[in-house]
Amino acid sequence: METQNKINLSAEASRILNKNWRKSFTVPSSSLYPFQWLWDSGFNAMGWANINMDNARAEIKTLLSAQWKNGLLPHITFHDDSADKMYFPGAEFHGAYHSPNSPEHVKTTGMTQPPVLGFVLEYLYEKETDKAAHLEFYKSSFLAIYAFHKYLYTDRDPNNEGLVYIRHNWESGSDNSAVWDEVWSTYEPPSYDVERKDTTHVDQSQRPTKRDYDYYLNLIDISKQCNYDESKMLDDLPFVIQDPMFNGILAASNKSLIKLADIFGFPSEKSQCVDWNIKTTGGLNEKLYDETQGLYRYYDLKNERYISMPTGMGFVPIMAGVPTRVQAQQMADKIMGEDFTGSNLDGYLCPSLSVTSPSFEHNRYWRGPVWLQVNWILERGFREYGFSEVADRIKKDSLALVIKDGFYEYFNPIKNSEGNGGYGGNDFSWTAAVILDFIN
Ligand code: DGY
Repeated sequence: METQNKINLSAEASRILNKNWRKSFTVPSSSLYPFQWLWDSGFNAMGWANINMDNARAEIKTLLSAQWKNGLLPHITFHDDSADKMYFPGAEFHGAYHSPNSPEHVKTTGMTQPPVLGFVLEYLYEKETDKAAHLEFYKSSFLAIYAFHKYLYTDRDPNNEGLVYIRHNWESGSDNSAVWDEVWSTYEPPSYDVERKDTTHVDQSQRPTKRDYDYYLNLIDISKQCNYDESKMLDDLPFVIQDPMFNGILAASNKSLIKLADIFGFPSEKSQCVDWNIKTTGGLNEKLYDETQGLYRYYDLKNERYISMPTGMGFVPIMAGVPTRVQAQQMADKIMGEDFTGSNLDGYLCPSLSVTSPSFEHNRYWRGPVWLQVNWILERGFREYGFSEVADRIKKDSLALVIKDGFYEYFNPIKNSEGNGGYGGNDFSWTAAVILDFIN
């Protein structure tokens, strides 16, 4: 990459992280998402680690300070939840503060998000120059993240398969994936007469529909009626899914915790993480790998059935070294083939849904567009397995999209389409964070 391009991208990415910095954490986007989101925060901390280690550590410290008493790390922490924040559904709608497990000093949601923090902590530790000076921060963060994994394995794996479930589509991170349509087709929620705020910031065509929101709000309503009690929610919620991206990320974080446990001297935690990871790797390969598709699929525990849809998220377990050599080869062929790069094999990797899927939409939230934080995961995974052509392509496409369209939240994967292919929020934090890693 040309030096000038690199300097410009780096300066722009730093400007965005600084713009979105709020004293001790980063908002994903100043208009659309005005609070702290779990997995955004993890990626943002890695971005900060390239330019300002103090902010990287502060980001994680703030996030972990909202941990629930049962270990859950919430998907949103509502710092300074005032009406001018223009976000819905806010802390009141979630009502998670009624749970005896929720923290007293800050309001949060009662659901989680992909467990990226294990590998985020390892990333920060590797970048840290004065490791001894910050050892306490790393050790206490390790223990908090370990408690989070323990909660997931204890409360979210009823069949002891090493595959934890998610109980809201927002927990998946891939909020509006077409995969969830399969679940929505099994029941009818009430219609909610509420004022959405997201569509005042971003065009409706790029966001979930009104009916989608009825499902999302209904799951929150049911959880609230259960007072966020895990076993009641497991009984009452119609959405209980084993998700390959969530579990793939969990496995990658387990691996990082195993390495860090050695360094920090936590032998019993280490052996527990080893056990968890053996189970999760087995569960992913035995239950979720889809040989006919060449990637990982979903399992709906409520309706006891698979949901096989070729999503970009179905490649994520590669980051954790989960697939066998044969599976990884199938995945490499799949991602470079027509389903993901289009009939001319020239599309941008990696679409969130196969471009040949009937549900593909080039511009709607998680139903087709490329997300750079997923690309970051895939780039690492394919590189680790020695598929450098795939890894290089993912990196090159990520940079090309940002150079062409700007630092958006998500991007059109189709080559040579008209207009700007950047969608959702602009000046988006994790897009900036991933670019900082890619160019450094
Ligand atoms: C949103 O508001 O769309 C968020 O993704 C929920 O986490």
